[in-house]
Amino acid sequence: MSKEVFLDLGRQPIANKFVSTEEDSNNEYFFDLQAQFDPETKLVSLANFVDPPKLFNEDYPYRAGASPATREHFKKAAQIVDSYLKQGTKVLEIGSNDGSFIGCFDSDIAVAVEPCGNFAKETRNNGYDTYDAFWDGDLAETILSNNGPQQVVYSANCMCHIPDIQGAFAAVEKVLDTDGVFVFEDPNALFMLLRNSYDQIYDEHAHIFSLIALEKLLANVDMHIVKVDVMENVHGGSCRVYAAKCGSSHWKPGSFNAPPLLEFEKQHGMNGIEPYIKFGDRVSHSKQLLRKTLSGFKEEGKKIVSAGATSKSTVVFNYCDIGPDLVEYITDTTPEKIGKLSPGKHIPICHEKEHLDDTVDVAFLGAWNFKDRIMDKHSDKDYLWVTHVPEVQVI
Ligand code: TMP
Repeated sequence: MSKEVFLDLGRQPIANKFVSTEEDSNNEYFFDLQAQFDPETKLVSLANFVDPPKLFNEDYPYRAGASPATREHFKKAAQIVDSYLKQGTKVLEIGSNDGSFIGCFDSDIAVAVEPCGNFAKETRNNGYDTYDAFWDGDLAETILSNNGPQQVVYSANCMCHIPDIQGAFAAVEKVLDTDGVFVFEDPNALFMLLRNSYDQIYDEHAHIFSLIALEKLLANVDMHIVKVDVMENVHGGSCRVYAAKCGSSHWKPGSFNAPPLLEFEKQHGMNGIEPYIKFGDRVSHSKQLLRKTLSGFKEEGKKIVSAGATSKSTVVFNYCDIGPDLVEYITDTTPEKIGKLSPGKHIPICHEKEHLDDTVDVAFLGAWNFKDRIMDKHSDKDYLWVTHVPEVQVI
């Protein structure tokens, strides 16, 4: 059975590549962003992967530790992982970014893998054994021979970035100790369907995992899911999945209850393509409604801006054909983004503190995953807040 496209989000730029110069804007890379379903593995993936070095290189802009909430998240994750480490064992992180997670461990028990040169350098300078490379079977062999088997392999928002996901899981199986545990967290497809958050689909997210698909992919490398933490508010709805080798004497197959979310996914029909096709229909309705809502406000002479210059808002604005004629500017708190233009649509990015002010009438929640935090901060303003999640509405 062949893979079937269920959603076409049109021509899209690299979602997190904010444009700073005219040269940048003339040389922007665009690709066809489509999501497809694999009837064999049940996995949702992009129909056209963007070559990873185009995305993950020494200019990679996303710094996990820039957000206090994210730093706190990784501290908690490190405490969990620490409880699985025994005397003399090690933790390996795949996709260590700025070291927000691995930095919680002593450098003599931690190994980092990070293909983005800027961050790999930082982690290495902090004393961590760092491999500046993409995760695959060859790298797993190298680490196995240099560092030995790993008790815990941890990865956050990285596994879903890897086009050859089956190869990536096989490489984890190779490097993991027989009784070790693989802990990885990524956005989950059930949340995307329930929240109509089609903006989870962008260049970096080569796959949107369901537990149904993960069960199959892990079984293909003799591994199984032993536990799942559901994290509704992390990256728009994520799961932290714990997987072990089927041959482990510690983590015995059959001695764990199926995670409730797996049952929800099955009840939701995610073994088949139907819920994804219905999702595609809802997304195209969402596009019409968002354009109509914002155009209506514009015709009334209202000033519309967007809060949060996110990869997600890049997808929404390019898919819905929303440019500076409709959204005057986007506000953000990240110094690296301020003064640049949004990818594709070239909407100016301004500092939130100075520009989310009393001149604004309508604020679109580009960072809808931080809705409460952003709205609370500006509770003194009488904006009309607009979101498209879970449906287009004025709050
Ligand atoms: P993320 O969803 O990729 O983590 O990006 C969130 C973006 O939203 C990031 O660029 C910072 C921005 N942001 C604000 O501008 N104001 C805020 O209050 C918060 C919480 C985030």
